[in-house]
Amino acid sequence: MTRAVIHGVGHAVPDKVLSNADLEKMVDTNDEWIKQRTGIAERRVCGPDDSCTSLAVTAAQRALAAAGTSAEEVEMIVVGTVTGDFPFPSCSCLVQDHLGATNAGAFDVGAACAGFIYSVASVAPMLETGKIRTALVIGVDVLSKYVDYSDRSTCVLFGDGAGAVVLKAEEATDRGVIDTVLLSDGSGAKHIKMEYGGTANPPHQGLPEGMNPFLFMAGAEVYRFAVGAMGDACERVLERTGLRASDIDLFVPHQANLRIIESAAKRLDLADDKVFINVQNYGNTSGGSIPIALSEASAQGRLKKGDLVMTVGFGAGLVWGANLIRW
Ligand code: UT7
Repeated sequence: MTRAVIHGVGHAVPDKVLSNADLEKMVDTNDEWIKQRTGIAERRVCGPDDSCTSLAVTAAQRALAAAGTSAEEVEMIVVGTVTGDFPFPSCSCLVQDHLGATNAGAFDVGAACAGFIYSVASVAPMLETGKIRTALVIGVDVLSKYVDYSDRSTCVLFGDGAGAVVLKAEEATDRGVIDTVLLSDGSGAKHIKMEYGGTANPPHQGLPEGMNPFLFMAGAEVYRFAVGAMGDACERVLERTGLRASDIDLFVPHQANLRIIESAAKRLDLADDKVFINVQNYGNTSGGSIPIALSEASAQGRLKKGDLVMTVGFGAGLVWGANLIRW
């Protein structure tokens, strides 16, 4: 059986740190509230020299180096992002050019915080069926550009960053992407949205009266959805594969809120040492969150060849999904 196997992983975050203490000076919030309700201590935000594309390119270069793969070998670049530099061209095409990946197709996947999950799920069948041999999947977002830094209910949550993996087709292996589950519920679109700047409300027509030009999130609704969605996606993918939660070696969930992660881990009855958490350092980096976590887990020696890894994400759309991977 041919599988899509991860050969290298890397990540990139901006240098600029935005701590809870910094935010205390900007809005009516405090370190204790933020840590208690979200687990976040600091996040990274883009400076003038960073962009969605630049973070994606650096993460990709690190993943390619880790995999010992040249840019020319890559046949498909998939970028999970909702914050590309432009509505078009796509972030993936800009990345393709920067990398010199002259043999690659390129497309973006708009699945917000589940962007990496959806991107891996999109490209894995191309590798499994022999259409391509090598793919680069990147998850990246720079939500700091859409956040209202006078709105305490959202500005404490988000940060910027990118993560990338190199996937290769491998025959006769039990490693790689085992199975995926992708789900959506557009009736919840109103709960996390960026209304301004798309074709419904193009910037050249000016901001319609009463419209929010920033990211909007109904925190409590999204929290309820997230807690259910994480468990739902994990249980479905386990059921499809005949594996059990007790088989999982490392759980790498979307890093939005420590309480959401803990509640999913509890539902799956996972011990603390099987759960990867770095939300304290980066906040919610949306599409970047899961591949950044994979990259750090790998660097910390928490991912060994053959480990069963559950990745799961949820976000604006609403969308959610999980990839079960043998490392
Ligand atoms: O990846 C995209 C998915 N997004 C998420 O996963 C986010 C999901 N939602 C959440 O993580 C949580 O709902 C939040 C962290 C956003 C909020 O936590 P919460 O425990 O649901 O708090 P809340 O919204 O119920 O607010 C509780 C109180 C309110 O005050 P009152 O009305 O009780 O007086 C808020 O005004 O906390 C207040 N509050 C704050 N206080 C200090 C809201 N934000 C802040 C803040 N600092 N930054």
